[in-house]
Parts: sequence; structure tokens; C-alpha cells
Amino acid sequence: MTQAVISATGLFTPPEVIDNDELVEAFNTYVQRYNERHAAEIERGELSALEPSASSFIEKASGIKRRRVMNKSGILDPERMCPSLPERSNTEYSIQCEMSVKAANEALERAGVQASDVGAVIVACSNLQRPYPAIAVEVQDALGIDGFAYDMNVACSSATFGIQAAVDSIRNGHVRSMLVVSPEICSAHLNFCDRDSHFIFGDACTAVLVQAKEDVASGQGFDILGTRLKTRFSNNIRNNFGFLNRADESGVGQPDKLFVQQGRKVFKEVSPLVADLIESHLGEHSLKATDLCRLWLHQANLNMNDLIAKRVLGRAATEEEAPTILDEYANTSSAGSIIAFHQHHEDLKAGDHAVICSFGAGYSIGNVIVRKR
Ligand code: COA
Repeated sequence: MTQAVISATGLFTPPEVIDNDELVEAFNTYVQRYNERHAAEIERGELSALEPSASSFIEKASGIKRRRVMNKSGILDPERMCPSLPERSNTEYSIQCEMSVKAANEALERAGVQASDVGAVIVACSNLQRPYPAIAVEVQDALGIDGFAYDMNVACSSATFGIQAAVDSIRNGHVRSMLVVSPEICSAHLNFCDRDSHFIFGDACTAVLVQAKEDVASGQGFDILGTRLKTRFSNNIRNNFGFLNRADESGVGQPDKLFVQQGRKVFKEVSPLVADLIESHLGEHSLKATDLCRLWLHQANLNMNDLIAKRVLGRAATEEEAPTILDEYANTSSAGSIIAFHQHHEDLKAGDHAVICSFGAGYSIGNVIVRKR
């Protein structure tokens, strides 16, 4: 069976940045105007007044300091409170395709691979801007790749599930190389009017090039030793937006058509599941936590990542062992663990073991054990 290798990664970081203070200022202006507009109903007890948000809470509860977004002005407009991303004509490449191509080109360049030599593309992310034609087929076209492409969505675990699909395709001889691209426009499914979650997400796109071992120069990239996926149904992270509810085009005013979560429950229920899965997966490969040089964890909440790393390692992890990108990017869904990998792998030495681990809605967990070549 052909072994698979992560030969390179790429990252597209949107140029626009929103820090917590700017976000909170827009949110609090929205709250003030809402409370003024509904003063009579609030006075009569028919409506509850909205509470203001606070930067200090956001940083303490989540570890997030700022986020990158595809459109800042729309999000910070208190009369709008969502990104302004105009619809494009069918003859233009879509916004998710454009992000994907940028990240993919970086991965290809780093690997020294021509797009024409790639066998397939998976676009794996939390939200796709249309059902079909698949964004992945559009990316395939834009890059000039022969072969096949498809989209998949396993929420925050999309990239690790995509890596497993790529590994399987290479092992089974369908392709020699596959791009797994995660164009996450999380700001478009976030309810910026919801105090509990308005600060959570940011936008980014990652690309992972998975290749047959024989095609990659020795010493380049990471051997994929194993992948382990797990899902368990939960309503604690949910988004009901879809074509069955097209009557409301925007979803605004229908909070369940955007991201909703029970953050505390997610924290409590998912953290032990993730730690257990990493431990048992390592055991299957005769590895122990002490063999790990790095944990590239999904980036949703800093306290949660600290807890998971502590449970796996039996002690608090250093920033070097479990790097954080959440402070600068916020939660970028499936892109988060790949951004951490992309930005914090160069110092690893040949033979070093590490894991890329994602977790999120579903619940879904994906773990990839890698070894530096
Ligand atoms: N500004 C100020 N205060 C706020 C606030 C805001 N924006 N949002 C909530 N609060 C208040 C609450 O009203 C509450 O006040 P109370 O104690 O007086 O009732 C208090 O802060 C704590 O709120 P809570 O929602 O329990 O905070 P938390 O510590 O659980 O942190 C999350 C919230 C969302 C950051 C955290 O639960 C989390 O990240 N969980 C994991 C989520 C996850 O992994 N999701 C996956 C998504 S893909």
C-alpha cells in the first residue's frame, strides 16, 4: 500500500483585521440603538434589554485578541452587523475559490509541485457558498488540474477528515497527490448581534498537499502514520441555514440560521473526548504522549486547548508544544489546526512525532499522527 506524506501547506490570511475593542464598540452601539428603539417594549417588560459586550471578557474567556475577516466594514456597521460580500456573476471565480487558489498555490510552491501534477482536490470546510457545482471543481479548473474534485463538510473537523480521504485515495492507488483546501468564511455564518458568540470566529484558508511517499524528496514534509476519526451527534453546535428555509434570504432575524452553540457544554463534553481519542490513537501506533513533540490543536478556545493538552501530556503544555494562533485569527473552524501546523513546524527534527487534531460540530473529532521526515 502506498504511504502518504504531507509535503507542504499553504495559508491565505485575509488582509482586514478587527481587534476586540473595535468589535465591542460596534456591538455596543448596536445594543444601545436596539435598546433605544425598543425602549417602550423594554419598559413594559415585553422585551429584555440587550447587555453590552466587553473586550476583557472576550480575551479571558476565549484567548482571542483579534480576527482576520474578508470584509470589515459590514461587520462593524451597527446597522448591518454582517460582512458585505457582494454576489458574483457565474462567469467570475467565487470568493471561496479565490481564497482556495491562493492557499493552494503557496502549498504547491513550497512542495515544488506543478498544479498539473496534482491528481485531485477536496474543498473541506464548515460552510460552502453554494451546493453545486462543487467549489472544489471550480478550484480544480482555476488551478488547471486534471482528475477530480469534490466538496465535503464536517464542520471544524473538515480538514482532518479531508486528510484521511486523501490518504485513503493515495493508499488505494486512485491518485498520487491530493490538495485538501479549507476556505473558511466563518464571519458569514456568525451572528454578530449575539453577545455570547459575536467574538468567536475569523476567516482564513489553508491548503494541505498530500502526496505518495515515493514522489516526495527524502527529508521533505511529514509522514502520515495514521488518521483516526470520530463523530457523535450533538445539537450543542448547530447552524440550520439551508435551501429548505430560503424564504428568508439573509437569515438575519432568525438566529438559528446562523451559528449557535452551548459553549459551556461544548467545552465540558468535547475536551475529554478529544484527549481520549488522541491517547488511544497514539496507543494503536505504540506511541506515548511523551513521544509527542507538538500538538497542533483546533483553535476554538485557549482554556479548552490548555485542558486538552494537559490531559494528554499529564502536565501543562508549553506554547512551543501546543502553539496558539487563536489570539490572532480567532476560531477559523477547520483551518485552525492547519494554520497552527503551517506556522509552527519548521523547528521539528527528523523522527519527531506530532499530532494535528481538530474537533467541533457534529460532534466531530479528527486526529492525524505525523512524523517529521
Ligand atoms: N461580554 C461580557 N460578558 C459576557 C459576554 C460578552 N461578550 N458573553 C457572555 N458574558 C457573560 C455571561 O453573561 C456570563 O455572565 P454571568 O456569569 O453573570 O451569567 C459570563 O460572562 C460567563 O458566560 P459563559 O457563556 O458561561 O462564558 P464561558 O466562560 O463559557 O465562555 C465561550 C464562553 C463561548 C468562550 C466558551 O464557552 C467556549 O469557547 N466554549 C467552547 C466552544 C467551542 O469549542 N465551540 C466550538 C465551535 S466550532
